[in-house]
Amino acid sequence: MDNSATTRTDDAVVELMDRIYREDYGNPSSLHKIGYRAEQYVNDALDTFSSILQCKRKNIVFTSGGTESNNTAILGTALFKESRGKHIITSVTEHPSVLEPVRTLEKRGWEVEFLNVDSEGHVDPDELRSKIRKDTVLVSLMHVNNEIGTITPVSEIGRVIREANPECFFHVDDVQGFGKIGFKMKDSNIDFLSASAHKIHGPKGSGLLYMSDRASHISPYIMGGGQQGGIRSGTINVPGIAGFAKAAELMYKDIEDNFTRAKDIREHFVTEAEKTEGVRANGGTEGSPYILSLSVRGIRAEVLLHALEEKGVYVSAGSACSSHKKKLSDTLKGIGLSDDEAESTVRFSFSVHTDKRQADYCIECLNAVIPELRKFRRR
Ligand SMILES: Cc1ncc(COP(=O)(O)O)c(C=O)c1O
Repeated sequence: MDNSATTRTDDAVVELMDRIYREDYGNPSSLHKIGYRAEQYVNDALDTFSSILQCKRKNIVFTSGGTESNNTAILGTALFKESRGKHIITSVTEHPSVLEPVRTLEKRGWEVEFLNVDSEGHVDPDELRSKIRKDTVLVSLMHVNNEIGTITPVSEIGRVIREANPECFFHVDDVQGFGKIGFKMKDSNIDFLSASAHKIHGPKGSGLLYMSDRASHISPYIMGGGQQGGIRSGTINVPGIAGFAKAAELMYKDIEDNFTRAKDIREHFVTEAEKTEGVRANGGTEGSPYILSLSVRGIRAEVLLHALEEKGVYVSAGSACSSHKKKLSDTLKGIGLSDDEAESTVRFSFSVHTDKRQADYCIECLNAVIPELRKFRRR
């Protein structure tokens, strides 16, 4: 129940990667036939992703995951565009791999505008429009929020940006949406899109950055041997890339059916969980069906997390990426939760393999542990 943190690697992915590690382990940059064989895997992966993203192969760069993709989009744009403007817009609910690079730029004299969100986690398109200036070079917003599942209407946002300043780049962190929540890339006005393999049953340490034609001129920030058109140097991670492509193929094959099934499970889960007094789902009903943020009044998230762990149910407190930090989640505070509510919030996150029986078991566990923990608290 912590699939937004990471997922089990699919057997078909492991088998493919195993073969590449053992047999087809060449360096795609080598000129001999072992290198050539390795290059074929990368080309096949480029075909898979260019068909998913409705783009050309040259619009895709492979990275070490979502964090690197986000950093590349932001820092690459900053290096490329600093003579044209030093203004960036993002939101308070972004992942740290977006917030940290923009904060670093802020310390170096860039102006960064952090849009607030409403109680369901949405930015206001009209507010965004009013904040875009002539010197705004980048808007970075996530497609699906990793803590509460809010889905940003990226095509609408892309239109707003293009109308307000046609030169401004648009970056979408799609780490929690890729393979799960489909949308049309064509006409979305997206310049960068980040995706990560380990969130969709692929390997850890593998991701991609889509770059539109005009954005593919950004300055590289990882420099070296000039692989991948010089945008991202470093020996190409063939097993990671092939494993990612395999995982993406499997996810996109059934994306609609998976979505419908997850939605049913989530709705059932919310209805049952909210029957317990003081339990409330965050983020509205139209978000990702794979993410369920629950605030449980009067019980600290870590306490609930460990009580569920005892029963074999693994969840995260707020979001996995920040659960080691003491600071309260910006997303939960951003949607208006009090400190107490934010401290009492856990995240269940489903995968395409989660079924109703597992959801029912979680509800049963919640029903058993919540009254126990509350009793304990009163003593
Ligand atoms: C929304 C979002 N962006 C970026 C990342 C970072 O991705 P990665 O773990 O591949 O570096 C995560 C990971 O949790 C995420 O949820």
